[in-house]
Amino acid sequence: MVPSIRTSLPGPKAKAIIERDAAVVSPSYTRGYPLVIERGSGATVEDVDGNVFLDCAAGIAVNSTGHSHPDVVRAITDQAQRFLHMSGTDFYYDLQVRLAEELATIAPMRGPVKSFFGNSGTEAIEACLKLARYATGRQNFIAFLGGFHGRTMGSLSLTASKAVQRRGFGPLLPGVFHAPYADCYRCSLGLKPETCAAECLDVIENQMLLQLVSPDSVAAVVVEPIQGEGGYIVPPDQFLQRLRALTKTHGMLLVVDEVQSGMGRSGKMFAIEHVNVEPDIVAIAKGIASGLPLGVAVARSELMTWPPGAHASTFGGNPVACAAALATITLLKEQLVANAATVGTRLMDGLKALAAKHPLIGDVRGRGLMIGVELVRDRQTKERATTERDAVVKAAFSKGLLVLGAGKNAIRFSPPLVLTKEQADTAVRLFDEALTDVDSRR
Ligand SMILES: Cc1ncc(COP(=O)(O)O)c(C=O)c1O
Repeated sequence: MVPSIRTSLPGPKAKAIIERDAAVVSPSYTRGYPLVIERGSGATVEDVDGNVFLDCAAGIAVNSTGHSHPDVVRAITDQAQRFLHMSGTDFYYDLQVRLAEELATIAPMRGPVKSFFGNSGTEAIEACLKLARYATGRQNFIAFLGGFHGRTMGSLSLTASKAVQRRGFGPLLPGVFHAPYADCYRCSLGLKPETCAAECLDVIENQMLLQLVSPDSVAAVVVEPIQGEGGYIVPPDQFLQRLRALTKTHGMLLVVDEVQSGMGRSGKMFAIEHVNVEPDIVAIAKGIASGLPLGVAVARSELMTWPPGAHASTFGGNPVACAAALATITLLKEQLVANAATVGTRLMDGLKALAAKHPLIGDVRGRGLMIGVELVRDRQTKERATTERDAVVKAAFSKGLLVLGAGKNAIRFSPPLVLTKEQADTAVRLFDEALTDVDSRR
């Protein structure tokens, strides 16, 4: 039975683990509520006290095929019995080649591509940055306010999501310029997404490239096709299309960060496919291996000409992670990308319907099973309901629904892509109850 909450939260076993954690684990982690997992299956999670939750967080959009999908577990255990590691940077194994071949068939660009393997999203982005510099001989980058690309020094220099993520860590990489992202719910130009021409990008063309940084010194524009950490913000199609045109005009590369939006989550294999734009390089991680650590930078072959020794990572493309990725991609292609589209529509409709009842809901947006609900104190002023958002996330947890915040005042639904229609309806019901709870306390 999902959900099934039997103890107060956290229960006694969870409480004991959380106390031990506080003594020995880095305090930099952001834990919004006290979930201590014991096991997971599909879209459900059981905690150490036997409470069962419906998972609409998926380990931050990672468990694409659900928790411990039997096909993925089989692929992992089969490979683990053969060999665990042989460093694909110094030796060869078929699995890494097979995964690169598979990525070449699903990559969102025509023509030959090559893959560089790392272990995480941030490593995929670091590879994109180094490759963009190497291939263009240019130094600078354009990224977007609200964007999140990781936390190592290079990717952190692009990240402009929350000040705390950068505070105390400077100086960061020089030559990164941030432009506004197209947030249509809060369009500063007062335009409608259906009819706008992505005028927000005028800032890049008419200000940044004229007053701040010469276009011929910009290696790449790095963009999330749907902003994840920034609030699950879907830009209008024209935004990404115009960015493609602009980068082409100036000989810059277009790097698309699909770490969160990729691997079927949006209802297509990659979110950029919704707008018919072909990037030069794409960063992939999170959902690619259903939970095993893997990050990949996939680039047009003509760009990936760096010589032996130029870039590598000991664990990158680990064989067990490659086996998990191949099993994941098979499941995505056979069923789960389609499931993300159909169940995503159901979840989106259900969440939109809640707006009639809950004035706290300002906006519901997304694609597939990547859905954001933005909470506001007043629909006219759109004042951000920040504390209310945190309260709703906690109330949802207490009712057995796992969701995460995104941006200042949005809640993200990023469930495993195996979510069923019935589970989507349950998620809506629990979210409704959580909103009612918070409303009644206001
Ligand atoms: C769009 C995007 N890029 C990059 C990253 C960094 O990934 P990782 O935490 O695996 O380094 C994230 C993580 O949330 C992300 O959402």
